[in-house]
Formats: sequence, structure tokens, C-alpha cells
Amino acid sequence: MKICVVGSGYVGLVTAGCLAEAGNRVTCVDVDEAKIRRLEAGSIPIYEPGLAEIVKHNLALDRLNFTTDFKVGVDNSLVIFLAVGTPSACDGSDPEAASAAAATLTGKIRIFPNGYDACENADAVVILTDWQEFRNPDFELIAKSLKNPVIFDGRNLYDPAVVAKAGIEYHCVGRPTIVCSS
Ligand SMILES: NC(=O)c1ccc[n+]([C@@H]2O[C@H](COP(=O)([O-])OP(=O)(O)OC[C@H]3O[C@@H](n4cnc5c(N)ncnc54)[C@H](O)[C@@H]3O)[C@@H](O)[C@H]2O)c1
Repeated sequence: MKICVVGSGYVGLVTAGCLAEAGNRVTCVDVDEAKIRRLEAGSIPIYEPGLAEIVKHNLALDRLNFTTDFKVGVDNSLVIFLAVGTPSACDGSDPEAASAAAATLTGKIRIFPNGYDACENADAVVILTDWQEFRNPDFELIAKSLKNPVIFDGRNLYDPAVVAKAGIEYHCVGRPTIVCSS
């Protein structure tokens, strides 16, 4: 799958490296030209054990690319991860981020007022936050709303047995995948 990661800091670079290592073609976009040139040369500005090897390996295989050109990254990708720094309010939310992201990615993303609306007729749910409001959702409602009842949980938020009870296929990290027989 072709994937774009916007922001090549701690979160973006690790995400991009791991997704490339898993076999995806990943384009990393950043506004910091010096950082992008450095990364293109295989020099890693942060310390994460094993990340330098992963980045170099996937650069060599041309599965990982770095650019400052948003168009290259966004237009050619099926999935776009935003991993830029965000100013947050004291409750941790970012009132400006959604509209700023929508303006940057005009026509490429849709922003919903709540998680359930986003599930309506979607292919799957991908959990990338551990915010409280997503910790105890109505799985029955999610199962009914999705085109395919599938959750990819990058935060290990849920009890697999509870998710399975709602008839949802559940992929999490470091625990077995739960596939429901319908
Ligand atoms: N680091 C963590 O452990 C952690 C954990 C949870 C959440 N987060 C959140 O993840 C996000 C990224 O965090 P981080 O630690 O990777 O930050 P970071 O500062 O290490 O990296 C952010 C990167 O985004 C780039 N950037 C900024 N504006 C950009 C733009 N408009 N377009 C493209 N690139 C842009 C910066 O140049 C920088 O390279 C933040 O919102 C942070 O709150 C971070």
C-alpha cells in the first residue's frame, strides 16, 4: 500500500519506518528541508533503538522516501498519517488542528463531528489515540455502521473478548488477532 506520513519527527519517522519495514511504500513529508536532506542521506535525527537500520534498509529498497513536496506525498497515497506538532488546549484537544488539516488536505480527507459518524459506511476503524472518549465505545453501534466490521487498534485499548462479542474482527498489537465467524 502507498502511504504518506506528514511530519518526520518522533511519531512520524517511527511510523513511516515501521510501515515501510512491513512492506508498504511510504513517503514522508516535512516542512523542514534540512531534516529531509539529512533523512534522505540515511542520517537519523532522533534516537530510537533499531530505527536507523530500518530507515537505511527501506531507503535502499526504495520503499521509504523523504520529501518537502506535499503534492508528491499526498496525491500518490491511499492513506495519509498526520504526525506534525499540534498546539493543544489544556484538556489536550486541539481546536485548530482539524480545520488546519482540512485546509492543507483539501478534498483528500473528511472531518466528522464524532467517531460514530466517521464509522458510517467506512471500510474499517483505525485507533491511533488513547483519548478517554475512544476507550469505551458502543461496539454494537460501530459494527452496524461499518461496511466491514474490522478494528485495527494501534493503542491496545480494548478487551478482545468484548470486541469479538459485537462481531468485530479485531487486530491489535502483540496480541492475537480475533476473527469472528459470522
Ligand atoms: N512524541 C510522542 O511521544 C508523542 C506521543 C503522543 C502524541 N504525540 C503527538 O504527535 C504529534 C507529533 O509529535 P512528535 O513528537 O513526532 O513531534 P516532532 O516535533 O518530533 O515532529 C513534528 C515534525 O512535524 C514537522 N512539521 C511541522 N509542521 C509541519 C507541516 N505543516 N507539514 C509537515 N511537517 C510539519 C516538523 O518539522 C517536525 O519534523 C504531536 O501532535 C504530538 O503531540 C507525540
